[in-house]
Amino acid sequence: MPKLLHDHRVFWRQFRENYHSTGAIAPSSRFLSQALSRYVGVSPGKSQRVLEVGPGTGAVTSHLVRRLGPADRFDLVELNEQFVRRLGERFAHEPQFQRVAKRSQVLHQRIEDLPGKREYDVIISGLPLNNFAVADVQQILATMVELLKPGGVLSFFQYVAIRKARALVSNRHERARLQGISRALDGLLGPHEERRDCIWRNLPPAWVHHVRMPAS
Ligand SMILES: C[S@@+](CC[C@H](N)C(=O)[O-])C[C@H]1O[C@@H](n2cnc3c(N)ncnc32)[C@H](O)[C@@H]1O
Repeated sequence: MPKLLHDHRVFWRQFRENYHSTGAIAPSSRFLSQALSRYVGVSPGKSQRVLEVGPGTGAVTSHLVRRLGPADRFDLVELNEQFVRRLGERFAHEPQFQRVAKRSQVLHQRIEDLPGKREYDVIISGLPLNNFAVADVQQILATMVELLKPGGVLSFFQYVAIRKARALVSNRHERARLQGISRALDGLLGPHEERRDCIWRNLPPAWVHHVRMPAS
């Protein structure tokens, strides 16, 4: 079976079995993946430490591995065992993944439990934050901010107008949760957003946010 079709099937199965944590019906498009990879491999001669959060079947990962420089190091943190297995296959068998396999590690765990401070130059997140409780979103954002080096960048996406659309068909409790997530994201984006890209060629269309930490 062609690789792309296989990955869509793996993804669809996990969407049905683990809707809450998978959060999308299909892997990110090439256009969304490219936008998320924008800050990886941008300074030739300077090594980067890169973290991908929620890589799934590796749609974004396949763009990241092509951009990594010879001295860069790459960690991936993924909650879902099926996706971890699929990523292991890709690092073992696909040339672009094999090229960086010795400098990469797939961690089978939740981002919330990843220890460390000021470790990464770039973090790319594919997490479906709109599915989570407000306290979990706050904790995840705080963890990612803590893991970034001064001057480091967090790139993540959200589907265009998705919270507003969901709020229209939700009860009061759900609307309060969605508003809480907006507030948590605004608290990060307000002071730190450096750039945003609108990606229409994705199902559904998405905003990619790039957030830079202060240099010191
Ligand atoms: C919307 S999918 C994105 C997959 C892939 N990055 C893409 O764009 O196609 C979300 C991914 O985040 C993972 N995930 C959800 N919660 C997580 C957590 N707390 N820690 C690590 N990974 C998580 C899911 O298992 C899933 O692979």
